Order: sequence, then structure tokens, then C-alpha cells
Amino acid sequence: QELKLNLEQIEKNGYDHFMLKEIYEQPEAIKDTYRGRLRINDGIIKMAGVEDNLEKFLNAKRIIIVACGTSWHAGLVAEYIFEELVRVPVEVEYASEFRYRNPIVGPGDVVIAISQSGETADTLAAIKLSKEKGAFVFGVCNVVGSTISRETHAGAYTHAGPEIGVASTKAFTTQITVLTLIALKLAKSTGKITNSEFHNYLAEMEVIPNKVEETLKSDEHVAAIADIYKDAGNCLYLGRGYNFPVALEGALKLKEISYIHAEGYPAAEMKHGPIALIDEQMPVIVIATKKGHYEKVVSNVQEIKSRKGKIIAVVTKGDKDVSALADHVIEVPETDELLTPLLTTIPLQLLSYHIAVMRGCNVDQPRNLAKSVTVE
Ligand code: G6P
Repeated sequence: QELKLNLEQIEKNGYDHFMLKEIYEQPEAIKDTYRGRLRINDGIIKMAGVEDNLEKFLNAKRIIIVACGTSWHAGLVAEYIFEELVRVPVEVEYASEFRYRNPIVGPGDVVIAISQSGETADTLAAIKLSKEKGAFVFGVCNVVGSTISRETHAGAYTHAGPEIGVASTKAFTTQITVLTLIALKLAKSTGKITNSEFHNYLAEMEVIPNKVEETLKSDEHVAAIADIYKDAGNCLYLGRGYNFPVALEGALKLKEISYIHAEGYPAAEMKHGPIALIDEQMPVIVIATKKGHYEKVVSNVQEIKSRKGKIIAVVTKGDKDVSALADHVIEVPETDELLTPLLTTIPLQLLSYHIAVMRGCNVDQPRNLAKSVTVE
């Protein structure tokens, strides 16, 4: 027992929990993900799994993404990115629903399966079904040699390193990184974006790890906010566009490790239901970065304010409008709109982490949850 504890402490590398360690590893993990692939001097993205199957990707009538949990949220972010850059229709499916509903899928379709563990039973079943029906199946996995990485026709690893905490953190940001690289590569191949746009995206992607690093500096400030809201019974997370899936993921993180009921919503859907919940007891976390329909989000924030909801806003550095209305402001560096999820996710991970620790929850092994779900 003593030996095990010591080993674990060594593995945690000075951090109190694996989850915190993994949150802090994200700048390096993202670099590991794009290393060797993002070749800014040559003006290319190198990904053998995509290159070897380029025709299949380029001729795809549509792309279907299948995944579960946090990986499904990464798929939702990818949907926005692919549709914007590649102009191909994308559907994102819960693997468990897809496999049981006689899905319309076949030759000409590209199915992307996303899985940190590469062992999730429902995702694996969705892959097998897609293959049987003649689709081309591409895997985005973290665990090298995992079942899903072997069962797919081709793939790209995230190279995030082992993720021990049950609540997924660095797997999520590295999945988004891989999927963004694929989208950029395809957009360049089809001429959907110009060479200079492509170059600008690569340059911005290259500095994202530094910006994640900078975002991590909000840790203490986020912990102070966590202290104020740790006893909340409910929480609402709102975002639009690329940051709508980030809102879903933020809510999932809070549920998973702190057992606080939380819901993520596209900000504009608030008026169709969730607004009824808002009162002075309700913390609302709003992702309101510049560019992403910013003015619309400002008016959503005004609606929350007039109902006395408590507003925790994640904004772009130097923001004025939302910051003037919010109770708490967490700044992230400016980046391309498409890459904002890689930054806005960070404070939401930290917020759940601190709240869970303050509530005395078992952060790395939350009740009832497993890291890898190999049963239905
Ligand atoms: C479990 C884990 C989640 C994970 C999901 C999908 O529920 O607790 O963190 O997102 O499975 O796992 P996968 O390994 O397929 O990404």
C-alpha cells in the first residue's frame, strides 16, 4: 500500500490530483499532438492517415462523427470547424444511438470515430456497423494500439500521453487539435481556403500552447470564484458557435466530479426554457469571446442580469461590454475564433476541479464513473 501511494505521488509529479496535472499538461500535450505534423516552414500539414486516404476524404458526401462523452463534445466542435473550413456536411452522433437505429450510412461516407481510450464499447460497435455498410472509418484515439485504433481503416493519434483522471481534460483539447489539423489539411487540398489563410491558421495553431499556458494563470482567480459557488445546487453554462460544445463540456465536467447538477445550452436557447430557472441562486457561466456572435451574447448576459442570475463570464482579454455586466470575469488571450475552444475550455476545467476539491469529492475517481466504458 505504501509503495503504491509513493508511486502514485511520483506519477502525480507534485500535483494533488491527476486531473490537475493533466490540465496543466495541456500546453505540452497540444504541442505533442501537432509535432511533426504542423510544418509551418514547408507550408504543409503532414498526416499520413489522411494523405493515404485523401480521395476518400475529398469525395465524401458527408462526414459522420461517432463518439461518447467528452469525445462527443470534441466531435461537436469539429462539426463547426469542418463545416466552416471544408464546407462538407457533418453529422455528430452519439455512438450508442447511431448503432441501434439502422443508420443511413454506406460507401462514400467518411465516419470519424473519436475515443480517448480506444475501447468504448458503443463507439466500437458503431465502427463495426459503419464498416459493414461500406463506409470508410477513420479513428482519432489517444491510446496507442487500442482496439478502436486497430479496428478503423486509418487514423491519427492524439499523442496526449496517458490520461488517468476519469474526467477527460487533455484528451479533449488534443482531440480538437487533431481534428482541426485534418480540417485545415482538407480545406487546403480543396482550395477552400487560400494559402495565406492556411498559413495564418498554422501560425496561430503553433502559438496556441503559449496561450493555453497564459490561460492557466487564471487558476488562482478561478479557485476564488469556485469558493463562492461551491455550494450551488445547479449551474448553467452558455456559449454560441464554436463555444456551444465548450458549454456542454464545462457542464459535464462539473457534473462528473462535483456532483452539482449542470446544464450546457446554446446561449440563444436560454429563452426557450432555461431562463425560467434563473434567480439570484443560479450561477451562469457564459463564454463570451470576441467575434463569436459577441453582441448577441451580450444581450443574453443582460437578460440573465435583469433576473439577478450570477454571471461568471469567460471573455477575451481587454473585454469591456460583458465584463461591465458580469459578477466575475475570466480572461483568455485573443485568438482566431475557430481556435477559441482550446482556450475557453481551460478555466471551465479548473472551475470544476476546484469546486470538486472544495466539496471533498474524489476528483480522480468520481463515484459511479469509469475511465473506459467497455460494456454497453
Ligand atoms: C467515459 C469517460 C469519459 C469519456 C467517455 C468516452 O464515460 O468517463 O471521460 O469521455 O467514456 O470515452 P472515450 O475513451 O471513448 O473517449
